[in-house]
Amino acid sequence: MSEVRNVLVKLQALFALIGFAALTPLLVLAAILGRLIAILCCCSPPKSIEGEVAVVTGGGHGLGRAISLELAKKGCKVAVVDINLSGAENTVKQIQETYKVCAKAYKANVTSHNEIVELNSKVVGDLGSVTVLINNAGVMLHRNSLDPEPADLQLMIDVNLTSHFWTKMVFLPPMKALRRGFIVTISSLAGIFPLPYSAAYTASKAGTLAHMRALQMELVLEKQKDIHVTTVLPSFLRTNDEVTELTKSIGFNSIYPLISAEEVAQRVVAGMLRGEHEITLPGLTSVFYRLIYLLPSDWQIRMTVLFTKNQIKRFREVRS
Ligand SMILES: NC(=O)c1ccc[n+]([C@@H]2O[C@H](COP(=O)([O-])OP(=O)(O)OC[C@H]3O[C@@H](n4cnc5c(N)ncnc54)[C@H](O)[C@@H]3O)[C@@H](O)[C@H]2O)c1
Repeated sequence: MSEVRNVLVKLQALFALIGFAALTPLLVLAAILGRLIAILCCCSPPKSIEGEVAVVTGGGHGLGRAISLELAKKGCKVAVVDINLSGAENTVKQIQETYKVCAKAYKANVTSHNEIVELNSKVVGDLGSVTVLINNAGVMLHRNSLDPEPADLQLMIDVNLTSHFWTKMVFLPPMKALRRGFIVTISSLAGIFPLPYSAAYTASKAGTLAHMRALQMELVLEKQKDIHVTTVLPSFLRTNDEVTELTKSIGFNSIYPLISAEEVAQRVVAGMLRGEHEITLPGLTSVFYRLIYLLPSDWQIRMTVLFTKNQIKRFREVRS
């Protein structure tokens, strides 16, 4: 029986490999052509968000700050939300120095449903009804990566995943009543290419992707075609100093250079306004992950380990 199973697994792997080899050039070509056609023909013209109200969680630093500035550039009023109020105030100062839009800093912990409810009341009173939600706040590293404390694991899941349920519960119903809005969720490539020794991060980011796909289906079923959901899956960014140092010390930048917050923010806001559902950065990873998913699961793991084993070994050494 087990011999038959082994033969079947080998056959499955062989078919997947043939499909992989045959489809790679076609999918790469299709991705390039699709992008070119979208740019040349402006298939879906970008929507305007001038005068709309955006909430950006984790807007006091890094990618959240860059997205806040990019939204302000498009004429959007911005509620910059962070657990670190001085970071949020700094972002607001930068917005007010450059753009003529209303922006206000708010202190809130996204893991608390009550604080999100209070935040919504304040923002509606100060700026108006929220029609753009950017779920960006995130925690990336545990104090002890190889053997994290239960409280650290819980915090990562609460900030990176559970908080998106709280923001959805609070901000989506008014969007549904207005029949328009944008929800952008910052996930990570770790959500589709698992990061060993970062299981909670990987699980939280895979969870956000699954959450947003389920939400998209619900909005289709409810015919809410003017509420757009965009999930962003970036590679490592040059935003958080600890992550930047770590990726350099493990040699990740030799696989792909770290991406700047400004580059991601421009891509995210442009994609959001065109109603794109999923944005991977770099873009070609959207083709690679679909190809790798054709392989049997143990081959997927072997291939990923093959390409990243030196970096994973260094990660273990650096974080031990
Ligand atoms: N840095 C990377 O390499 C990278 C790669 C892929 C995805 N991402 C994701 O991008 C997002 C932004 O990352 P970043 O590098 O700009 O992070 P960052 O650490 O520079 O900024 C995160 C911000 O979130 C805030 N925050 C943390 N916990 C919070 C809470 N409980 N309530 C409210 N605010 C809170 C922090 O105070 C900080 O201002 C995160 O979701 C992260 O997982 C980052």
